Amino acid sequence: MLPSRPARAPVVALLAALLTAATALVPAAHAADGPGSSGTREVSGGRLDWGIKSSFQSYVTGPIAQGSWELRGGAATIGGSRFRFHSAKGSYTPESGALEAAFSGGVHFTGHRKPDGTHELDLTITRPTVRLTGGAGSLYTATLYADMTSRAKGTGEVTTAAQVPLAALDVSGVDLRGGGTHVGLADVPATLTAQGAKAFAGYYTQGTALDPVTLSADILAAAAQASPGAGPSTAPSAAPSNASGEKRATEGGFTEAAVDWGVRRTFREYVTGSIAQGSWKLGDGAQDGGALFRFPRGKGTYDAGAGSLDAAFAGTLRFTGNHLDLTLGGVKVAVKEGRGTLSADVTGDGRTAAEGVPLVTFDASGLKEKDGLAAVAEAPAKLTAEGAKAFGGMYQEGTDMDPVSLAVPLDAKAALPPLPDLGSGSSAAPSAAAEPRTKSTASSSSSSSGSASFPAVPVAVTAAVVVAAAVATFLMTRRRTPTASTPSLD
Ligand code: HEM
Repeated sequence: MLPSRPARAPVVALLAALLTAATALVPAAHAADGPGSSGTREVSGGRLDWGIKSSFQSYVTGPIAQGSWELRGGAATIGGSRFRFHSAKGSYTPESGALEAAFSGGVHFTGHRKPDGTHELDLTITRPTVRLTGGAGSLYTATLYADMTSRAKGTGEVTTAAQVPLAALDVSGVDLRGGGTHVGLADVPATLTAQGAKAFAGYYTQGTALDPVTLSADILAAAAQASPGAGPSTAPSAAPSNASGEKRATEGGFTEAAVDWGVRRTFREYVTGSIAQGSWKLGDGAQDGGALFRFPRGKGTYDAGAGSLDAAFAGTLRFTGNHLDLTLGGVKVAVKEGRGTLSADVTGDGRTAAEGVPLVTFDASGLKEKDGLAAVAEAPAKLTAEGAKAFGGMYQEGTDMDPVSLAVPLDAKAALPPLPDLGSGSSAAPSAAAEPRTKSTASSSSSSSGSASFPAVPVAVTAAVVVAAAVATFLMTRRRTPTASTPSLD
C-alpha cells in the first residue's frame, strides 16, 4: 500500500479496547471447566508454525522498510518463512473438542529506522494462543490471540496489549472430539480480525488473508494431569535428570551436562527450505528445541579454580536434503582460559570424514557456577577454518554461528535449563502440514524425506490437505515421549 494512504485510527486506542475485550474472553472459556476438572484434560507440549503473513515479512526486510525481525523467547524458524512457537500449555475437552493452546516465543519486527536509532515500524507478536470452541454438534469457531506491542505510525506511541484477537481461523470441517493424546490442525486458513488489522497500522483491512496456521499439541493422559497441590508440570527436559538426590559430580567430574547449539539459523532454514527441501533427524538422545539442539549426558571434568572444562556429549544430528547429508556426533566441548571450542565427528554421505573436528569457538568467559550449575548461556560463537570445510565451504571461517549454551549440573539439586517443548514428533519438518492426516494416524511413520516436507511443495501440499481433509485435519496419535530418536515425521 502506498505511503500516501491516510493514517488509520491510532493503534493505541485500538489496542486498549482490545485488551478489555480479550480479558473478558479468557476466563469465560474455562471458568466452569478448568484444566484438570472433569472432562477437561491438560495440554502440555506442542508447537505452532505460522509465518504470520509472508508478504509482511518480505516488506519488512525489503527495500521499503529496510528492516529485520528477531526471534524472542525460544521461538524458532522452520522452512523459509515460518516461525515456530513452542511449549504449548492449555486445556482440551474431548467431549466437545474445545481446545485452548497457548504457545511460547515471539517475533519482533523492526523497519523504517529513524536517525535516532528507533524504528517507525516496531511490532512484537508473542505468545500466540489458539482457542477453539463449539463442537458437540455445533460448528467450531477458532481465534488466534497474541500479545502485541506496537508503535503507532505517526505519533510513535508504543502500546502493549495482552492476548489481542489477531486472526480468525476457518475451522469448518474440523471435528476435534475424541480422547487421544495428541491434537493437530494443519494449514488452517487465517484472516485478520478488525483488531488485528489496526495493529498493522491499518495497512491491512479486516478479512485480509494471513498465512495458514499449523499446530500440534500433546494432551496429557487423565492420570498424568497435575493434581491439586502438585507443582506445575515441567517439560521433560526441564526436570533434573537425577531424581535420586545423589551428588552428580564428584571431584570435578560430572556425567549429566548438556550443550545446546542450533548450528546456524540460516542453515536450518536452508535445509528445510525450498533449495535443500530436507530435514534433520536427531539420534542417541539429542533433543530438538526448535531453534537449538541439545546434546545431553555430557561426561567430563570441570576445574572451577582454573575455569577449565572438558566434556563429551551423547547425541547425533543429521541434516539431509538435496545434495546434502551431514551428520554431527561425538560432540565435545573444551573450555580453557575463557575460550570454548565445540568439536564433533563430522560424517558426510554416510562416510566418516573426520573425527573431533573443531567447528566453532565461543566466548566462555561467562562460565560460572551458581546453585550447583556451572553454565554459560548463549555465548557468541564463530566458525573455525575446519568448521568452514565441514559445511562444504558455504560459510567462511569467522562466520557468526548460533550461540552455544553449556550447562553442567554439579549437584543433585541443579536442573538443566528447560528446553522449548515442541511436543511429540519433535522434528524439523512441520509434519502436520506435510501430509493429509487421518484420525488414527499411527506415530511410527518414518518419512523424513524432503519431498514430503512442507517447505518443498507448499502449494501442492496445501491443496492436498484442503481436498483430502476439508481444510484441517485432526490427529489422534498415541502420546509418546518426545525423544529425539523418533522419526522426524510422525
Ligand atoms: C515511515 C513510515 C512508513 C512508511 C513510509 C511506509 C511505507 C510503506 C509502503 C510504501 C508500503 C507498500 C509496500 C509495497 O507495496 O510493496 C507499505 C506497506 C506496508 N506497511 Fe508500511 N510504512 C511505514 C510504516 C509502517 C508501520 C509503522 C507499519 C506497522 C506495522 C507498517 C506496516 C505496513 C504493512 C503491513 C504493509 C503491507 C505489506 C504487505 O503485505 O505487502 N508500515 N508501507
